Amino acid sequence: MCGIVGYVGSRPCKELLLHGLERLEYRGYDSAGICLMNGQVDIVRRVGKVSALREAVGTSAHPATMGLAHTRWATHGGVIESNAHPIEACEGSGVTVVHNGIIENYATLRRELSAAGHEYHSDTDSEVIAHLIEECYSGDLVEAVRAAYARLDGHFAFAAAHRESPGVLVAARRGCPLVVGVVEGEMFMASAIPAFLSQTRKVQYVHDDEIVVARPGGATFLSGDGAVIDRGVDEVDWDEEAAEKQGYETFMLKEIEEQPDAIAETIGERLYRGRLQLDGLQLSDQQIRDLSRVVFLACGTSYHAGLVGRYVLEEWARIPSESDIASEWRYRHAVIDERTLVIAVAQSGETIDTLAAMKEARARGAHVLAVTNVMGSQMTRECDSVLYTRAGLEIGVAATKTFTAQVTLMYLLALRLGLIRGTIDATRARALLEQVRGLPDLARRTLGRRHVVEPIADRYFRNEFFLYLGRNMGLPIALEGALKLKEISYIATDAYAAGEMKHGPIALLEEGTPVVVIATDSHVYEKVVSNLEEVRARGAHVIAVATEGNEAIRELAEHVLYLPRTEPELQAALAVLPLQQLAYAIATRRGLDVDKPRNLAKTVTVE
Ligand code: F6R
Repeated sequence: MCGIVGYVGSRPCKELLLHGLERLEYRGYDSAGICLMNGQVDIVRRVGKVSALREAVGTSAHPATMGLAHTRWATHGGVIESNAHPIEACEGSGVTVVHNGIIENYATLRRELSAAGHEYHSDTDSEVIAHLIEECYSGDLVEAVRAAYARLDGHFAFAAAHRESPGVLVAARRGCPLVVGVVEGEMFMASAIPAFLSQTRKVQYVHDDEIVVARPGGATFLSGDGAVIDRGVDEVDWDEEAAEKQGYETFMLKEIEEQPDAIAETIGERLYRGRLQLDGLQLSDQQIRDLSRVVFLACGTSYHAGLVGRYVLEEWARIPSESDIASEWRYRHAVIDERTLVIAVAQSGETIDTLAAMKEARARGAHVLAVTNVMGSQMTRECDSVLYTRAGLEIGVAATKTFTAQVTLMYLLALRLGLIRGTIDATRARALLEQVRGLPDLARRTLGRRHVVEPIADRYFRNEFFLYLGRNMGLPIALEGALKLKEISYIATDAYAAGEMKHGPIALLEEGTPVVVIATDSHVYEKVVSNLEEVRARGAHVIAVATEGNEAIRELAEHVLYLPRTEPELQAALAVLPLQQLAYAIATRRGLDVDKPRNLAKTVTVE
């Protein structure tokens, strides 16, 4: 939520900051702003996307070689220009901040600082940071930030600059991401690497409860009490090209098409000559045999991947498994112990509820495995083991390729645990692994049938309600298909276990209601067909996702989206693909911005 970019160096930085903001726009896009400092402080803010800010600042050169910029996802205070960042303290103070996250004690601080004479210009919680720094400032910005930071409660990352401290940016984090980009003679700081990827792949990660002081010659990392911390420089292997649309009309479409590669990369060397290796899983074979339970914790799309994980772990590794929404689980007094494996799934590695659930699980003695797409993200520092999905950078706000990569990893994990626990025989495991290896090709074939999806979108894009049904492994796919459609097309959707339909949702069906049914070959296929008949009997229109070769289903459904034949469990990774395409095709027909749906942000760092 919210993107921060900062630069200090020797080049005029206006364009560098605007470019950084464009790369971070997926984090929030209610409003944006920039502060350019060169003895004087020039601030421009605009409601709307970064393009509105770009237009407002114009194309003329600005000499400033230091600055801060921000793209906002509103938490406190409406979407109006005065609530956009960068935010200044009192007029003439010279203090400017950009902030991501929430300051929980802002009301108390605001009252206290108002009483001391500070004047506020916004309704945000962020503004108290600026005033607190102003209050603590007596010539040393680092000391002022340190003192202010100590008074803040909540989870946040912020960066500050002072007109009287040229060539210095000071930032701090507690719970929200912050990373430094290293170039000789200049420094970037940002909420995420894509902000400066066009300039450098060298990064230094800022850890929780640290303050970072960036000067053109380098960054200094400090603990809250001022002690200097040694921090190495890492090199990421992402490239700037990945952050471009490469000819696609949207990032989402590009990312949908990239799924065969995301699956292939996630399998990578983990599967070599029939042998399955999961480096990163820090559990001995004995500990794996001793596991009594697995709990998947995640939010949104990642939660759906966890649901797939639950089915395959039970099926192949025979471990009692459950999957829960992180924001619910963290407030339950769930029973877990040292023999529980908690698998936290998050594309971003920064989702606040998932992080909090992980902390809770570790405190209660469970082994916590993080599954994430972002190297060095906060999750990777709060876990016992980490397995990376390798989907590459995902910029579209709606998760697509990271989901299929997560599902692929669930397959590998369940097979690995099943082999160690002896719950799946070697011949069956070999056959499954062979099929897993073939998934990228099958995904390519499935995506190649987009022409079948388009007429369905033409027919239904004006509908205001879709129902999605599935059973067993089809259920998480129904949930994910429904989430994709609602988040990018703003069409109301409901997704249900098909067997539950008769217990309520059937009342929603009318003549012509589109009902998407996951009817791939499996042991519950016949049951799904019965539900499908019930849907038809109410005049609703069935859009079935079925396995190639199933001609009979044509008699039961208005439209059929076929998938190549593979093992029933593996069809989950394929079945979601036409549903993503359908959601995309419908949203674009409704003229919507699929990469930046309203009210959403890609990384959810607030509760
Ligand atoms: C949906 C979507 C969200 C995320 C959710 C969790 O398309 O992208 O539902 O899945 O916000 O994000 P991560 O996986 O980063 O924890």
